[in-house]
Amino acid sequence: MEAAAPAPDPAGETDFPPAYVGSPSCRDCHLEIYERFVRGSKKARTREQVEKMLPKLTGEEQQTCFQCHATGYGQPGGFISYFQTPDLGDVGCEACHGPGSAHLQSQSQWQMQDDPPAETIRRRPDPQTCASCHTPERGGGPDAVRMFSGAH
Ligand code: HEC
Ligand code: HEC
Ligand code: HEC
Ligand code: HEC
Repeated sequence: MEAAAPAPDPAGETDFPPAYVGSPSCRDCHLEIYERFVRGSKKARTREQVEKMLPKLTGEEQQTCFQCHATGYGQPGGFISYFQTPDLGDVGCEACHGPGSAHLQSQSQWQMQDDPPAETIRRRPDPQTCASCHTPERGGGPDAVRMFSGAH
């Protein structure tokens, strides 16, 4: 996934580039979205699906699955393995919104202040982000933009 990272905040108090933190870190502040996502989205259960198939695959084949069935695979601070990075084993919030560590830091520091923080996370994911996993043969293609309504 080549989507641009969010801009650094001017005060320079947050991670840049940001790292992946995993969906459970988003729960406390975005409770409604989080719960709906975990209950309703198949993305939140990709690990379950894929783990059933892994024993039949070579190590190299397994790595190709993680590009689309985990969060931030091959990127700084992203998925490494189910053991090392369990919170990134599904397709989580950050697969679409980008790595969240800077957002977490800035929200914890600034949410009580009047000044809104600089944009630290992608509000509206680029359709290109979806297309990196939803290739034409996997539910993507010309209709991909319409899927936006099903994001969460
Ligand atoms: C400490 C609380 C907190 C945590 C933790 C947190 N957020 Fe947020 N987030 C907020 C607040 C408050 C806003 C609204 C800020 C605004 O409107 O500018 C927000 C806004 C957003 C937005 C919209 C951005 C925009 O510019 O309007 C997205 C997307 C988002 N959060 C995703 C996430 C994701 C993904 C995570 C986990 C990686 C996360 N948040 C964790 C507090 C938090
Ligand atoms: C280019 C991205 C991409 C790669 C690589 C990829 N997948 Fe998928 N996979 C998807 C998408 C997107 C879907 C959902 C759309 C669909 O079903 O076609 C999906 C669906 C699935 C499903 C079906 C889940 C269900 O609800 O029925 C399974 C199981 C699965 N993939 C396993 C794998 C395994 C195992 C690998 C590695 C050998 C792999 N995938 C590689 C993107 C990918
Ligand atoms: C499949 C991609 C995808 C995933 C996964 C995803 N989002 Fe989003 N999210 C979107 C899209 C697309 C929008 C913009 C919707 C719009 O503006 O029409 C959005 C908007 C948002 C917003 C701002 C608008 C609102 O609805 O309040 C927040 C906050 C947010 N997401 C948080 C999260 C959190 C937290 C998670 C994980 C629990 C998550 N998202 C998972 C695609 C995703
Ligand atoms: C990191 C890869 C990845 C990205 C990025 C991604 N998806 Fe997905 N998405 C998947 C996989 C894998 C599945 C299938 C899960 C399954 O069936 O087990 C899926 C399933 C879906 C579904 C089926 C319904 C459901 O319950 O999950 C929709 C709708 C969807 N994605 C929309 C989007 C949109 C819109 C975006 C971009 C904003 C997006 N996806 C980005 C991997 C991805």
